Amino acid sequence: MAKRTVRDLPMDLTGKRILVRFDLNVALDEKTGEIRNDRRIRAALPTLKLLMERGAAVVAMSHLGRPKPGNPVEKNAPFKMDRVAARMSEYLKKPVQKAGDVVGPEAKARVTALKPGETLVLENLRFHEFEQPLDKKKNPTDEQVARHKQGMEKFARELSDLGDVYVNDAFGTLQNKDVSVLALPKAMVGKPRVIGLLVEDELAKINALLDHSKPPMIAIMGGAKVSDKINFIKVLLSKVNTLLIGGKMTYTFLKAKGIDVGACEIDPTDEDLVRTHLLPEIGKKIVLPVDYLVAQVSEDKDGKLVIGETRVVEGPIPSGFSGVDVGPKTLADYAARIIGAATVIWNGPVGWFEQERFSKGTRGIAEALAKVKVRGGTSVVGGGETAEAVEKYGLVEQMSHVSTGGGAFLKYVEDRDFETLKQIDDK
Ligand code: 3PG
Repeated sequence: MAKRTVRDLPMDLTGKRILVRFDLNVALDEKTGEIRNDRRIRAALPTLKLLMERGAAVVAMSHLGRPKPGNPVEKNAPFKMDRVAARMSEYLKKPVQKAGDVVGPEAKARVTALKPGETLVLENLRFHEFEQPLDKKKNPTDEQVARHKQGMEKFARELSDLGDVYVNDAFGTLQNKDVSVLALPKAMVGKPRVIGLLVEDELAKINALLDHSKPPMIAIMGGAKVSDKINFIKVLLSKVNTLLIGGKMTYTFLKAKGIDVGACEIDPTDEDLVRTHLLPEIGKKIVLPVDYLVAQVSEDKDGKLVIGETRVVEGPIPSGFSGVDVGPKTLADYAARIIGAATVIWNGPVGWFEQERFSKGTRGIAEALAKVKVRGGTSVVGGGETAEAVEKYGLVEQMSHVSTGGGAFLKYVEDRDFETLKQIDDK
């Protein structure tokens, strides 16, 4: 069932306060706290502009990073929303206000004082104790669970008091169970609840990819954790003609095949999953790298990274070496297959691309994908790091679609269902 969107709201929203959940969780520089990549801020602008142009008073909410509510103030300080609000203001060429809290008297007063066409960004939602569900891994007592549930409900009511309309434009967060995406829209039943333009666009693009893509269709999978991606991989295998493997998961495949993997650390659960579900597809749909770049990687006494000898190898990885990139033969083969495909989907860098000397594979894959759209094909990139790589190489515009979602992208491809979307009004 199609969902109502911001475009379905009245043309004149003067006098309405619109609560918008964006995913403004941008990458920050670890040392300076500066925004390293503001793509998610840029992706929020179309919805924001539409609402402001229709005269709404916009209350923008998001999380940023993974701060813990009980942390000392200075530890959470880098995750304050001030820089995000300032960057929004630069793009909008208009002032964007920033509240000092998420809810409470100050936030409420700031929302009440908002005028038509103005935007206020609330403080980081995750500074609030009850934005996120309790961590079950910490074995909370029944009493803690009950207290937390009540707290989440109260927080949802407090947030809901701040708006007349709820908008979810946080594609990257749709898979979460945080109050701002689940309990809040539930608490706003009876008021309009719609999706924003980014969520609408992402859903449409992924649906088109899965339902109407032209063959031959190729997927490239990188990254490490097979267990996080096994369902995603199974869906891909049901859709694609070929699945090219890269990144750390290559070495899980090697280990599962009984090949020495040197110093690569392999999760036994991942190895089992590969052995049971994926090895039978080798030689059918799954293609593994034929060569890889390996390196001696260690840390000095101050914890600084030390990179020793590097080599390109085929077959077993020598002891003391870890796989850090695909090799030249693999890259040439993968690039040729990608360029010849009608539809390509890419998730997960194929090497340690953050290190310049190990980035050839990831850059090469990105460059090959960039040739697909100009030839009339479709290229879709999903996953935080993969999108970051494409951005880093200046190739975003050359792709048909670069998703703003990491986990959300995987989850939507897996089962095309989000509990959070069920809270949104149908058309
Ligand atoms: C993301 O970056 O994938 C989203 O913003 C969700 O963040 P989270 O994984 O910390 O919930």
